[in-house]
Amino acid sequence: MLEIANVDARFTSRLGELDALEAVSFAVERGEFVCLVGPSGCGKSTLLRIIAGLLPAVSGEIRIEGQRPTGPSNKVGLVFQQPTLLPWLTVGDNVALPLQIRGDSTSEIEARVAHLLALVGLADFGQEYPANLSGGMAQRAAIARALAQDPEVLLLDEPFGALDALTREYMAGELLRIWEQTQRTVLMVTHSVEEATLLADRVVILSARPGHVIEIVDVPLARPRHPSMLATMDLQQIVQRLREALYRGNQPGNGANRPGRTVGPGKT
Ligand SMILES: Nc1ncnc2c1ncn2[C@@H]1O[C@H](COP(=O)(O)OP(=O)(O)OP(=O)(O)O)[C@@H](O)[C@H]1O
Ligand SMILES: [Mg+2]
Repeated sequence: MLEIANVDARFTSRLGELDALEAVSFAVERGEFVCLVGPSGCGKSTLLRIIAGLLPAVSGEIRIEGQRPTGPSNKVGLVFQQPTLLPWLTVGDNVALPLQIRGDSTSEIEARVAHLLALVGLADFGQEYPANLSGGMAQRAAIARALAQDPEVLLLDEPFGALDALTREYMAGELLRIWEQTQRTVLMVTHSVEEATLLADRVVILSARPGHVIEIVDVPLARPRHPSMLATMDLQQIVQRLREALYRGNQPGNGANRPGRTVGPGKT
């Protein structure tokens, strides 16, 4: 469904050149849930922006259903790391916006928005403004908006990063439910290895910048899954393996100190 082949990313700024990604390759199967973990500043958001067609790759290519996207496409829905609901529109109008831009009829839009708000548990909040939502509700609305155009691939960039631990766990359960109902292909960035293990079929571990794939770990836990599984031995054993791979790949001399990082302090 989604192929990422040898993708390099580089930024040129006042400080000089900065390599963000180095030869990143992996694939996501149709209907699969893949999580991407790696240290802060290793290029995770950059990779999602490249896949979404918002940023060009320096080299390498992205294929979605075998085709190379040439810019932002309806096949990809993205939930950004920062909240991006438009504050002057109601929740319903935020979700409707991509459909209005696409030119759907008013009745189609109304039906689709009602369906999506119900799916994310916001059926009663369509007329509300984003400022009056909790953090978790705002992220649900953002997920509904990303699903509006029925994308083949849903990209989620740390969607629960700003939420408290309890809400985060609850939202992970909600996301599992939404994923099971919609059967979309999902690529999600998270800095929580526990969350990645609970949600994903496979976890892609990136090194420090310039980000490259250290390891891809299978998560053979049975589905359907539920946040209560976080406490189980089976899940925690996989979490431990992921942590070890993450630390192993991010020792000094690996990742951050690799040749290719030419200038500038990282966020790490
Ligand atoms: N528009 C830009 N111009 C210049 N440098 C950028 C730009 N966007 C990102 N970078 C740099 O590229 C690197 C990767 O950034 P990116 O946001 O992809 O990291 P990340 O893995 O998503 O980090 P985090 O986990 O903190 O969100 C960072 O060093 C960042 O400073
Ligand atoms: Mg990021």
